[in-house]
Amino acid sequence: MRAINYDKDQKTSTLYFDEVPIPDPDSDEVLIRVHAFGLNRADLLQVRGQYPPPAGASEIPGLECSGIIEEVGENVTKWKAGDHVCGLVDGGAYAEYCLLDSGMIWRKPEGASWVEAAAMPETYLTAYQALYQLMDVTTMERVLIHAAASGVGSAAVQLLSDLDIKKWGTASGPKIDFCLDRGYDAVIDYQKYSFLEKVMGWTGGSGVDGIVDVVGGDYFQDNIKALALDGTLVMLGLLSGVQAGQVNILPLISRRLTIQGSTLRSRSVSYKRELVRGFLDRFHSKIQRGELKPEIYKNLSWADSAQAHDLMRQNKNSGKIVLSIQ
Ligand SMILES: NC(=O)c1ccc[n+]([C@@H]2O[C@H](COP(=O)([O-])OP(=O)(O)OC[C@H]3O[C@@H](n4cnc5c(N)ncnc54)[C@H](OP(=O)(O)O)[C@@H]3O)[C@@H](O)[C@H]2O)c1
Repeated sequence: MRAINYDKDQKTSTLYFDEVPIPDPDSDEVLIRVHAFGLNRADLLQVRGQYPPPAGASEIPGLECSGIIEEVGENVTKWKAGDHVCGLVDGGAYAEYCLLDSGMIWRKPEGASWVEAAAMPETYLTAYQALYQLMDVTTMERVLIHAAASGVGSAAVQLLSDLDIKKWGTASGPKIDFCLDRGYDAVIDYQKYSFLEKVMGWTGGSGVDGIVDVVGGDYFQDNIKALALDGTLVMLGLLSGVQAGQVNILPLISRRLTIQGSTLRSRSVSYKRELVRGFLDRFHSKIQRGELKPEIYKNLSWADSAQAHDLMRQNKNSGKIVLSIQ
């Protein structure tokens, strides 16, 4: 089969078509013929050697895809050849065929395209995990989502749509209308304003109950200052770097804060199956009714993978970039 590969000795991110064997499903896996796969920030890091796949995972990039089941492993009873599905993988989605754990897939919604279905698993599960598992957003009154227009940020606001809660975000100026149109109550242009000052102004100095952050180092001090009593910071990314300078940690104690970091890809199979189950328990009917739909910034052919990586690296996208296998 054809797959997109990259130079493992890198420092460059040259992507190229490779010819590799079609993998065989293990007993709990399904093999799908891939129609589309979503691009994620992690892919950019992986092809530059900064985010190697976990042990046992495919070295081919790609964390999510949609397609048609070709073959099922001997223990798989819920799925059969011909089923249209999408799901989460540790790697291997940039290929004509991909193996998925049978507990990490769901049926492609009737009204969704292959592109939309491929854009869901990684970002929705990440946002769900942050909001409903690593913090309990159902008990909160105000949350702040950094990089609100990102794949993760645009999924997060949809997962909050039924909650009577203030949904605030940060984004660069050109993306603010995108975020407001998609459910954020207010979005701070972080290139012009301090999010800490805005949040403290809006809350009369009391802060927000939860923050989902992918920016990391540059935001760490202001994040802990912006949290309310008993607030939770969930850290998922380090887009600005890993150093946080001279941090005053007093708010951790005086405001009884919780800081929770996570990375989805390296979680165990059982954890991820449970995560998918929890996500579907809460959101399955909305997904199938088409009420949860990923924002597609661009759909390109997988022959244009390098161009797609450039777009994401330059922070051009609002929502998801998806590549179709043609
Ligand atoms: N831990 C996990 O399990 C997990 C899972 C999935 C994703 N992630 C992380 O979540 C983040 C978002 O992923 P994604 O695929 O949704 O990304 P994405 O769609 O590419 O969006 C990232 C956005 O972040 C903003 N940004 C970039 N650098 C920034 C900086 N230095 N300061 C402030 N904002 C910055 C940019 O938007 P603006 O134009 O608004 O600046 C950029 O478009 C990534 O860091 C990714 O690694 C983590």
